[in-house]
Amino acid sequence: MVMRRLALVALMGAMTASVSAQSATLAEAGKQLYASKECARCHMVKGKGNKMSKLDGVASKLSARDIGRWLSAPAEMEATLDHKPKVRMSSRKSLKNLTQADVAALVAYLMTLKQRETADTR
Ligand code: HEC
Repeated sequence: MVMRRLALVALMGAMTASVSAQSATLAEAGKQLYASKECARCHMVKGKGNKMSKLDGVASKLSARDIGRWLSAPAEMEATLDHKPKVRMSSRKSLKNLTQADVAALVAYLMTLKQRETADTR
């Protein structure tokens, strides 16, 4: 019985570890998409990119759901702003063909940006 319980605990531990490893991989994929989709043309993270719109701390400001909506329906989100941005995210053709998997990865990456202007600790 004791052995069985220990095995179960070990199994659960392994499962939790693999879930967080998976989200780390997803965030890593998102980081690469962030680069390949040229988000830095308009956004800045940790001092790199366009200071027009800083994404440092975006995870503390927006929910994962809203970040996802910025990616899948930028025009809708632009309509909720109290100001008119100089450039519109919804006008970028390269962002129109993001797949759901792309969006999930980008959200996972952006959700790692919890604080403003912090140095990359990894
Ligand atoms: C053509 C310029 C442009 C590109 C390219 C672009 N964005 Fe944006 N994005 C904007 C603008 C402008 C806003 C609105 C910022 C504001 O004024 O509040 C915005 C808003 C956002 C927001 C909400 C930010 C907030 O603080 O509320 C997120 C998240 C975001 N973009 C992610 C991305 C990601 C990820 C990419 C790449 C896949 C990307 N954007 C590419 C222009 C762009």
